[in-house]
Amino acid sequence: MHDGSGRIVVQNLTKHFGQVIAVQNLSFQVEPGSVTGFLGPNGAGKTTTLRMLLGLVNPTAGHATISGAPFYQLGNPARVVGAVLEAQGFHPSRTARNHLRVYASAMGVPDQRADEVLHQVGLMEAANRGAGGFSLGMKQRLALATALLGDPRVLVLDEPANGLDPEGIAWLRGFLKAFAVSGRTVLISSHLLAEVEQTIDQVVIISRGQTMYYGPLDALRKSQQSRVIVQPADPNKLVAALQEAGFSEIQPAPDNRIAIANATVQQIGDVAAKAGVALYGMQEEKVDLEQLFFRLTSGQFAAPPQVPYGQVPPVPPMPPGYGPPPPGYPPQQGGYPVPAAPPQQQTPPQGYPYGGNH
Ligand SMILES: Nc1ncnc2c1ncn2[C@@H]1O[C@H](COP(=O)(O)OP(=O)(O)OP(=O)(O)O)[C@@H](O)[C@H]1O
Ligand SMILES: [Mg+2]
Repeated sequence: MHDGSGRIVVQNLTKHFGQVIAVQNLSFQVEPGSVTGFLGPNGAGKTTTLRMLLGLVNPTAGHATISGAPFYQLGNPARVVGAVLEAQGFHPSRTARNHLRVYASAMGVPDQRADEVLHQVGLMEAANRGAGGFSLGMKQRLALATALLGDPRVLVLDEPANGLDPEGIAWLRGFLKAFAVSGRTVLISSHLLAEVEQTIDQVVIISRGQTMYYGPLDALRKSQQSRVIVQPADPNKLVAALQEAGFSEIQPAPDNRIAIANATVQQIGDVAAKAGVALYGMQEEKVDLEQLFFRLTSGQFAAPPQVPYGQVPPVPPMPPGYGPPPPGYPPQQGGYPVPAAPPQQQTPPQGYPYGGNH
């Protein structure tokens, strides 16, 4: 039996579909009283993880529990966890109210719950309309209403913002926050950080089935790095001087420029002056949360084996100076466009002078 805590625990969860490793040794915990975002790009393994949590897919290894028990041991699971996976099918001619009554009866909850949850999700006015004619956003609300029927302590929603208009997203945000503040647990997946950024407190970021970051969103925000992009007359000489001065995170950037992480323009200017290297331009660049998410999940970089809770892994380096600039990269420098390099030059040549740490 479950312990009623509302805690979700995912431990060393792994799923192989033939040759495809959908989820790899994934571990995280979701506490009651908070909204946790489960983020990763398309194909990262979010839905597969949620399906394992909800007993719909058997893990290859590891386990997942809700309130201390695996899904199949929850007794009447709908009373413990409400779940919405990908847009669900509704009987097209059945009204929203009748759809909910059918489910209420299957769960052993009174008929009147149907109207209560319709009210909760703002669908009361459409109670007597056939769900087949609902818009995508209305279907999302009806699916959420269905998940709420059993008055669960835990909500698990796969991409709930899909199909919602801005007003719907704002409504969902308010709803989920209130649900969590009442001491309940919310786990929502999304492939778009911006879509859920204002809703979530905790975040689990995965890429290729592996954890890239797990902890408070605030800690991730605070880890935002800044870097300086500089255009020196002699890049090799400046890099040598910077290395001597203790700067270790140096990357080549397009147009013979170099990018130095965790540095200020003053520091770089001083090193350059001392080394007698002329600078033709310098620019400080802040890495925002979206860029950090992009870098953590862009799939070009090996995932760390396990990320301790709340610890921000070192930001993977920018792609070496040949690839097209990532989003947010300054499209202009000194009044001329930064050219995108041809794809065959993605791999730096051997002996690249200062690309040692990529
Ligand atoms: N039933 C299945 N059979 C074979 N491969 C599968 C199956 N389900 C998922 N996969 C594969 O597992 C990987 C993870 O898929 P999953 O649907 O979990 O990703 P996701 O993070 O939910 O992506 P999205 O953002 O597109 O919804 C993908 O490579 C997918 O093709
Ligand atoms: Mg999915």
